[in-house]
Amino acid sequence: MTPSVLIPRPETELLVEKALDGLQEGAQVLEVGAGSGCVAITLALERPDLRVSAVDISADALVVARQNAAKLGAGVRFIHGDAFEDDWITAPDRSLDLMVSNPPYVPLQDRPGLEPELAFEPALALFVRDGPGRFIQRLGLVGCRLLKPGGRLMIETHAPEADASLEYLRGQGYRDPHTLEDLSRRPRVLVGTR
Ligand SMILES: C[S@@+](CC[C@H](N)C(=O)[O-])C[C@H]1O[C@@H](n2cnc3c(N)ncnc32)[C@H](O)[C@@H]1O
Repeated sequence: MTPSVLIPRPETELLVEKALDGLQEGAQVLEVGAGSGCVAITLALERPDLRVSAVDISADALVVARQNAAKLGAGVRFIHGDAFEDDWITAPDRSLDLMVSNPPYVPLQDRPGLEPELAFEPALALFVRDGPGRFIQRLGLVGCRLLKPGGRLMIETHAPEADASLEYLRGQGYRDPHTLEDLSRRPRVLVGTR
C-alpha cells in the first residue's frame, strides 16, 4: 500500500462476494477504478478461469495494483485510462459478462467537512465533480456498450444516492435494477442486467 491507493474497505467485500455469484466458466470481467487492485485480484484468485481486466486513471495506483497482482500470482490485465474517455476500451462490444466498480462518490464540495482520516486517501479515489451520478451514468453507458445480453453491472454505492442511481440504470434500459444491502441494511451495491 502507498498514498496512491484507497485502503480497501470491508464494505467492498459484499461487491466481490456477490460479483462471483453465477459467473460462468471463462467469463470476461472488467473492473473500472482498480486502485490497489483488491477487487480484480480477488476475483482472479477466487476464479482463475475468469478473464479479468481492470482500468484506473491513476498511473501510480496501477503500479501498486500490478505489484499486488504479481505478489499474489493473480492473472489480471491492468489498463491505464480515464473511464470518461473511450480510448482505453479494447473489449469488443457486447463481450463482457460482468462490469464491477467501486467508483469515487464523495461530491467535491463536501471535502472540507470530511473526517480527518480521509485526508490520507488519494483525492482521485474519493471525490467526484458534479456528484456521484456522473460516474453511475458513465458506467451505465459503458456497460450498455460492452456487456453481453444477460451481463451484469455491479457498482458499490453511497446509500443516499441509491434510488437516483437505480433510476439512471432503469433509464438506460437495464433489466431489474436493484440494490444489495450491507450488514447494516443500507443499500450498498447497485445491480443491473443487460
Ligand atoms: C473508491 S477507489 C476504489 C479502489 C478499489 N477498487 C477498491 O475498491 O478499494 C476509486 C478508484 O477509481 C479511480 N478513478 C477515479 N476517477 C477515475 C476515472 N475517471 N477513470 C478511471 N478510474 C478512476 C481512482 O484512481 C481510484 O483508484
